[in-house]
Amino acid sequence: MNFKNKIVWITGASSGIGEALVYELNQQGAKLIISSRKAESLYKVKQGCKKNLLDIHVLPLDLEQKPFLFSKADEAFKIYGRIDILINAGGISQRSEAVETESTVEEKIMDTNFWGTVNLSKALLPKMIDQGNGHLVVLSSLVGKFGTQYRSTYSASKHALHGYFDSLRCEVYDKGITVSIICPGFVKTNVSINSVTANGGKYGMMDTNQENGISASECATKILEAVDAKKEEVLIGGKEKYGVFIKRFFPKYFSKMIRKRKVI
Ligand SMILES: NC(=O)c1ccc[n+]([C@@H]2O[C@H](COP(=O)([O-])OP(=O)(O)OC[C@H]3O[C@@H](n4cnc5c(N)ncnc54)[C@H](OP(=O)(O)O)[C@@H]3O)[C@@H](O)[C@H]2O)c1
Repeated sequence: MNFKNKIVWITGASSGIGEALVYELNQQGAKLIISSRKAESLYKVKQGCKKNLLDIHVLPLDLEQKPFLFSKADEAFKIYGRIDILINAGGISQRSEAVETESTVEEKIMDTNFWGTVNLSKALLPKMIDQGNGHLVVLSSLVGKFGTQYRSTYSASKHALHGYFDSLRCEVYDKGITVSIICPGFVKTNVSINSVTANGGKYGMMDTNQENGISASECATKILEAVDAKKEEVLIGGKEKYGVFIKRFFPKYFSKMIRKRKVI
């Protein structure tokens, strides 16, 4: 993999997969811009890096705050005068039944995962087109490929990313822009702890599936391999990945299986 001197902007960089990507890319000599809401956590991640701290710029942002994302993209671009790769790892998950989930909570999930990713990517896209190349990386999920209990809006937000970015890829292919969609299964991060419940409260518990998932650093390595290879879509994780193929070739069997699957 060759990320030396590549300029990479990572959202969701304060925790989990985004944080692991920061450490791995720093190790490989990339120049970074790291974003999420919590500036203090981002500075801790920066301090945890082993190389060239001057090549890591903290740029706090809230993906829910659409009006500010375009000016954040301007700010980010001015730091190094170009951006090679945007990794959209910021996101929030859900632990609640659809029937009980308040619509404000559903809007929060869509605003963060879907609109936040779309608007930040769109804000940067004209600059990438002007510079003649660029790579948009989108963190979806296996639930961007199929739905499970307690994830209705989360799954919808990730499915929507596939529709949007698959379409965008067709439009920008001839402009030197690559679009990679990453679909992790269970990764051991705080994603379940940080999930929202039906009324918007914090779920606050580590799910067994996440606890037993692959490490964030293994996931980060696989993401970077996929980015380096300019893969359009990649599934990452353990045997839960096979759900995608079972759904495709045996949809009725999959439907019976998935409704019984324990997902918290
Ligand atoms: N872990 C898994 O099993 C798994 C599986 C499939 C897909 N994914 C996806 O992978 C991505 C990273 O998740 P993770 O597992 O690393 O979870 P995580 O540890 O909870 O990290 C989520 C990151 O998103 C940031 N974030 C949340 N809301 C934000 C907002 N409104 N604006 C800006 N940043 C925001 C958080 O930082 P702040 O709190 O500082 O804002 C944090 O850095 C997510 O898109 C998730 O859906 C994870």
